This record gives sequence, structure tokens and C-alpha cells, in this order.
Amino acid sequence: MRSSITVRPDSVYGVVRPELYGHFAEHLGRCICEGIWVGETSAIPNDRGIRCDTIEALRRIKPPILRWPGGCFADVYHWEDGIGPRDQRPRRPNHWWEGQDTNAFGTHEYLETCERLGAEPFICLNVGSGTPREALNWVEYCTYAGDTEYTRRRAQNGHPLPWNVRYWAVGNENWGCGGKFQARDYAREYRRFVSFLKQTAPRGEFVICGFDQQKWNLDVLDELRDDLGYIDHISIHKYVSRGTGSGFTPEEYWLLMKDVSALEDVILMTSGTVQSFTQYSKRFIGIALDEWGVWHRDATVDRGLSQSNTLRDAIFAASAFHMFQRHARVLSMTNIAQTINVLQCLLATDGDKLARTPTYYVYDLLQPHKGATALVADVDGPSVEVTDAGQRSTLPVLDASATASHDGTMTISVVNRHPSETQEGCVKVAGSAFPNISARCLGGTSPAAENQPGAPESVAPAAVSTAPAKNGEFVHTFPPCSLTVFRISPA
Ligand code: AHR
Repeated sequence: MRSSITVRPDSVYGVVRPELYGHFAEHLGRCICEGIWVGETSAIPNDRGIRCDTIEALRRIKPPILRWPGGCFADVYHWEDGIGPRDQRPRRPNHWWEGQDTNAFGTHEYLETCERLGAEPFICLNVGSGTPREALNWVEYCTYAGDTEYTRRRAQNGHPLPWNVRYWAVGNENWGCGGKFQARDYAREYRRFVSFLKQTAPRGEFVICGFDQQKWNLDVLDELRDDLGYIDHISIHKYVSRGTGSGFTPEEYWLLMKDVSALEDVILMTSGTVQSFTQYSKRFIGIALDEWGVWHRDATVDRGLSQSNTLRDAIFAASAFHMFQRHARVLSMTNIAQTINVLQCLLATDGDKLARTPTYYVYDLLQPHKGATALVADVDGPSVEVTDAGQRSTLPVLDASATASHDGTMTISVVNRHPSETQEGCVKVAGSAFPNISARCLGGTSPAAENQPGAPESVAPAAVSTAPAKNGEFVHTFPPCSLTVFRISPA
């Protein structure tokens, strides 16, 4: 049976902020050390210690934002350990993630990485084991233009000019690894930190720690109900897991596809809570899903949270992006965990070898959505019944999202979630005659297909041809477990 995909250019969800396609790199496993930082003396080609091939691959997908230094690591990180001559920086135990941190990659190296990537920095401050004084000094060190002890040290360390750091998170998961706070205690800490930080970084945007449990968010926002001006974003995290990276049953395959709704539930729950506090003011508090992705069972701490990253994960990510775009009005950013070698990474390295994971190609193919206006795209067609812990849900096999750019180009992305069957879809856009269409498709030989460093790619996008449009619609055959992106430009 053929599906119909109907795009309604008059019904919009909102503008897709580029930050919806953001990233996260933590001092964990081989994400930073080896993934980004190899050091100046490494045989792996590098530019002042920063690895060339991974940066070049990331640059191609124009990363809008890079969150750092954690994660749980953030609440044990003392930023002054990571500045000054590298051979004098202290080596510290990596409290949460085993091994030690050499501090070779610190503030300067991170901000230089952001500059090379063209990404907005997003620094997570230490609340759990730090102080407002320490946080204030870091903000001053990075962003203050005047002549102070800290800005002199910044200059001595090679950067006389201030950086522009827009996003600051006040702690990470402070209900857990960030200090095991009670919600109201954390909220009071947040207010104390931001009351000082705002003076030093008046244009900074501050991110409060939320939770995927409503009670925490309610208590935190209630405690700050007279100070909502201190909150620009609320952070939530959501990971899902079914089977192992490359070992999963057909049932686990479909359950993972359904798990996009677990992310959506957290977004809906948080936005409902936020709106109950902001509805009578003009205040906008964005939802920052600043950690998300598939966390497979095999990604354990002793393995540096590394896991296989297959086409299945990429199709999950593509459907998640479709859902994110439907919530463009409330979502201010998302940051997949994590950029390189950890969890649902975009790049995997092995020595000097590099692989672009299937998820990397989702970011690549969906680039045209960034900054465009998300439109309603209805899908009507075959669906699959999925039962999870006794709860049944119906999942359409095809899933679509559409955006319109300022220059009149429309982008329609379509996921075929079926692991083994092609699907036919009839694409319609009210009022469009489809003058110029091009299409690219990401697929592979099976949902378990993945790319290995140094080996030929088994999952990569390719240009595909489209049938000529007739009467404002065209029919396309979507391969199993695939993402197809159509670009429709004006005549
Ligand atoms: O991304 C790995 C870890 O998951 C992060 O450090 C933490 O914030 C979350 O629990």
C-alpha cells in the first residue's frame, strides 16, 4: 500500500534554530583525547595538537554549537587546571569516567576547536564541587574585555582578546552526578550563581538543570518563580536503549523506532511545566535537550562508553529530528551524546583512521533544514503496532518533515522505518509544481550496517533520481531503513 506525504506550506511549526543540530563533547573515553586532541607531537596529523581529520569532517556538517566539558565531568572540573603551559598542568583522576585527565585540553584548546568548527561554545560550569567565585572567574577569563589579573593571564596564555561565549550551563544533572541536590536547594544555588554571573556576562544565556521527572522541574521553577529572568534555557537529558549496538531482535528494532516518543514525552512534559510558569509573562525559556541519543547496553564505563553505531541508530536519529522540528517553537537546542567515539557518535577513530558513522550522515543530509521554517507534513499509510511493557502504539512506517527556506527552497525528508521492505510514497505539496527536484538517500544493506575506521563505507548517502511530478505530486520508492531528502528549488 502506498503512503501519502502531504506538505502544508500554510501550516508552520516554527523556525528550526540551527542549534537543534548541536553537539556535545565530554572528557570521557576517547571523545576528546584521541577524537579531538592528539597533542602536537602526535604522528596523527594535527594543527597545534587538534586533530585535522575529525575537525575537517565536522566542519562539513557546520556544527552550530558544541557543549563542553561535560556531562558529569563538568561538576568535578576546575578550569584553572586547564590553562597555562601544558607541561605544568596537573593530572587529575577522572572522577566519573575512570583513568586520569591530563588537562592538556582546556579552555583555550576548546575555544580554538569551536572557532575552527564555526560552532558556538556552550560551557557547563561546576556547581557540584565548585563555587560561584570559580565560575565567575572562568566567565571573566573567557569574556571580559577589561584589564584584570585574569584577562592578563588569558593574554599571557596566548589570547589577548575576549571570546564570545553565549551559553553557560549552571551545572549538569545536579539531581545526580552534579551533587545529588534536592530540587529547591539546587534552585537556590542556581540563583546565587546567576545573580553574579549576569553582571559579568550580561549577554550570556544561562541554562538551568532540569530533569526528565516533572517534580524536579516544578520545584526548581517554583523556587525561582520571581526570578524567571535568570533562566534562558532548561536542560533535559534523555537516552534510550534496546539491545546492543549491533545485536538486536526485530522486536528491539521496532521498539527503538518507537522510543522517539520517549524523547517527545520529556519535551512535552517540560514545555508544559515551563509554560505553566511563563504563560502570563513574555518570558521565553527554551528547552535544551543537551544530551540525547541511543545508549546501548554494551557502552559501559570500562569501554569508555563506546558502542557500535549502525544504520538503525541513524534512522532513530532522523525520526528524532523530525519530531524535534515539530517542536521547533519550544526547543532551543539539542546536543547528541557524544561527538566522537562515545555513545551515538558521529565519528569513530582507530589510531589515525576515521569513520563517519551512519548518524553523521543524518546530520549531513538534514543540513538544509537548519534555520528554515518547519511546515506541517502529514503522513497517511501503512503502520506497525508496537507493544512496550503492555502498552500498544501505532507507528507509521514512513515519517516525514518539511521546511521552507528564505530563498524559496523546500526540503522534505522522509524516513522509511521498515527494516526490510521498500515503501512507496506519493509526495504532495499544496501549490507546488515541483520545478526542480534533487534527492539524496542514506541507506545500507541492513539495519545493522555500520562504517568501520579505515574500511570502505557500507553506509553512505548517494544522489537518487526522482520520478517526474504530475499534477502537483510525485511518487517515490523508499528503500528499507533509509532517509531520503528532497530539495525542491523554485523555477
Ligand atoms: O553522556 C554521558 C553521561 O550521561 C553524561 O556525562 C551525563 O550527564 C549523563 O548521565
